[in-house]
Amino acid sequence: MNFPDYRPRRLRRNATLRRMVRETHLRVDDLIYPMFSAFGTNIKKEISSMPGIYQQSIEHIVAEAKEVRDLGIPAVILFGIPEAKDAVGSDAYSDSGIIQNTIRAIKAEIPGLLVITDVCLCEYTDHGHCGVIKDGDVDNDATLELLAKEALSHVQAGADIVAPSDMMDGRIAAIRMILDENGFDPVPIMSYAVKYASSYYGPFREAAESTPGFGDRRSYQMDPANRLEALREAAQDVAEAADFLMVKPALAYLDLLRELKDNFDLPLVAYNVSGEYSMVKAAAEKGWIDGDGVMMETLLGMKRAGADLIITYHAKEAARLLAR
Ligand code: PBG
Ligand code: ZN
Repeated sequence: MNFPDYRPRRLRRNATLRRMVRETHLRVDDLIYPMFSAFGTNIKKEISSMPGIYQQSIEHIVAEAKEVRDLGIPAVILFGIPEAKDAVGSDAYSDSGIIQNTIRAIKAEIPGLLVITDVCLCEYTDHGHCGVIKDGDVDNDATLELLAKEALSHVQAGADIVAPSDMMDGRIAAIRMILDENGFDPVPIMSYAVKYASSYYGPFREAAESTPGFGDRRSYQMDPANRLEALREAAQDVAEAADFLMVKPALAYLDLLRELKDNFDLPLVAYNVSGEYSMVKAAAEKGWIDGDGVMMETLLGMKRAGADLIITYHAKEAARLLAR
């Protein structure tokens, strides 16, 4: 008989032993919860494709943000649904804009919860693109000026971190410059450095009412086929002084999380996007999968792939399971 000398099953014999040799951990500190703040009062409208996720007016946002804080989740990321949209996304950089008012309300009541803001124009433009349009496409450099104004306005309202998701060239430098010029050099930038033109954003666009009115986002978001381009995007954002790098979506791009983790030393964020959430919820509702099990395995997989932090609509559910 030729028995193997090394038997990997020895380290799997019981739960305590497995706990001791576990390599990757999902912690509540890793989670960031996205919220959709809508203009008005007394609004709490569930997104049909995202059970448990709502468009909410500010008083409901504040109430849920307290719940998030009480679960030990360190941060939220905010998206805005303004009263009115126009060609240049004016509400995005208005001191009385939806996000600015939401930041002040959260900061007044829950100062310890970190507020991250999504910096982009698609939620605020009537055409739904992430910048201003010239000759049928988004004008990069004209958009940079507005994104910089938007980021400054968020920070002036009290945002702790700004997270540009527009994918214009040079936006990290433009935002860093305007923040520094205005005395906000301590405020970090979380760059959506590697963001693909993805079908996984469908439910989010319902939630944020940000579907492009014509065309698609492929002239600014990345081609899902590309890997080297992701490394160039990340390197450029590092050169422009980004403080965090993000890969988005996460599930179909776990290889990029590993690649960025191995090539760059900044904190790395995975965005577990809307379509990834909806798929788990839909299959669980049908009884086809164990929703909690798939959720925790998916989040752990993102950490194992290299993510330090995960933006996820599952944050509250995951925090509850982790606390047990
Ligand atoms: C805005 C933005 C999007 C998401 C985050 N910020 C949508 C898009 O680019 O169309 C997607 C998030 C999700 O699907 O959960 N630029
Ligand atoms: Zn956008």
